[in-house]
Amino acid sequence: MRPSDFPRDAKFYDPSIPPFCDEGGMFHVLSHADVMRVLQNKDEAFSRDQEPYLGEGAPIHMAMEFMWMVEPFTLDGETGRHDVLRGVVEPWFKNNAVRTMEPVIRQLTVDTVNEVVSKSTGTVNVATEMSSRLSMRVICRLLGMDIEREDWMRAQLDIFNTSPWDDMPPQWEVQAYFWQMVAKRLADPSDELLDVLVSAWSDGTIDDRELLGYLFGFTAAGTDTTGASLANAFCYLAEFDKLDWARDRIDDDEALRRATEEILRFGTPFPMKPLYVRSDVRFGDLEVPAGSVLAVWFAAANRDEAVNGGQAGSDPSTFDPERWPNRHLALGWSTHYCLGSELARLETRILLQEALRRLPGLRMDTSKPFRRIAGIVDSVTEAHFIFDQDAADRVRAELARDN
Ligand code: HEM
Repeated sequence: MRPSDFPRDAKFYDPSIPPFCDEGGMFHVLSHADVMRVLQNKDEAFSRDQEPYLGEGAPIHMAMEFMWMVEPFTLDGETGRHDVLRGVVEPWFKNNAVRTMEPVIRQLTVDTVNEVVSKSTGTVNVATEMSSRLSMRVICRLLGMDIEREDWMRAQLDIFNTSPWDDMPPQWEVQAYFWQMVAKRLADPSDELLDVLVSAWSDGTIDDRELLGYLFGFTAAGTDTTGASLANAFCYLAEFDKLDWARDRIDDDEALRRATEEILRFGTPFPMKPLYVRSDVRFGDLEVPAGSVLAVWFAAANRDEAVNGGQAGSDPSTFDPERWPNRHLALGWSTHYCLGSELARLETRILLQEALRRLPGLRMDTSKPFRRIAGIVDSVTEAHFIFDQDAADRVRAELARDN
């Protein structure tokens, strides 16, 4: 398998396929225009609410109280909790996230890359040893969890990811740990994201379940997605012979920003979102009745000519790190647009800079397998690279001396 190979049927990457209903009765939309129409949701016909899928009395996992599973309207058309929940944290993400997290992410990245150099093997599985590790460490720091908890939290997230929706374990240990974090923060306040949450909980804006929902929800939303995209960054640059291109632009934030958008577009780590249809809708000749499930394929929409914004850009089926404009939908659109988008971009830029600087000669080891698993997130599990170990040791010593 090559990094650019599709991990599922190629039709889910083809925006020219008209909306259709599969043999299981699920509807699918794939073009940029149709996906945008659903995401804009002007008539409130589509909902992320999980209620229709859960049996009567089924346990509700804390992650289902998070903003990604509630709408500004309920299934009955009453006012929903989404905008309140998003409103609590959106100012922090807009004003503080990048400013306060940049030095933190830089240090975590340097530590993570240095651990690779310390192995003294000249080899690295970019997926497991750098990408998913860094994305979990960043989430731990973002939320105020102990970094030592990274493996434990990873295991808890795996339990969540592999449990059926209608039979989620309550994950009491995680709930207990989150309450300990809250208690500590009440006793010793700071000005981080956790303090924003604790203060909204103290003044009654959000309730107990919602507070836990943020902590688990951010972990679930920001870890595997970002981990996949970070691995994609190295794999696509390697496969399309652009690693030297990136090395030459290591301090050019604008060039790396464009490359990051293309990595997001081309890989679309979160390929599809299933939505509940509240009222009858029509896509061309296809009638979608109320009560159906509609899958919106970001992965297909991102290969639509529309990503070039009406300008003469490269063919969307090719990887072009200089593509601009790049109207991809890998981070969603409109009401539920990804709240962590700037953090994900920042992590990509910083990891590319630090890894390309500290691992000289980094290149893909094509003698070893590459593996991507199709799922809610299309995660990369194996992406083997090699680098010049002696040169990496020298760079590490030089950089340590300069600091
Ligand atoms: C490359 C990494 C990422 C990708 C590809 C990604 C993708 C997405 C997508 C497609 C959506 C919209 C889903 C929908 O329409 O229902 C979304 C929403 C969201 N993302 Fe991300 N995401 C990434 C990283 C992050 C990070 C790092 C965080 C936070 C730490 C985060 C937090 C969220 C939240 C809170 C929402 C829900 C927003 C809302 O419902 O209002 N994401 N993300």
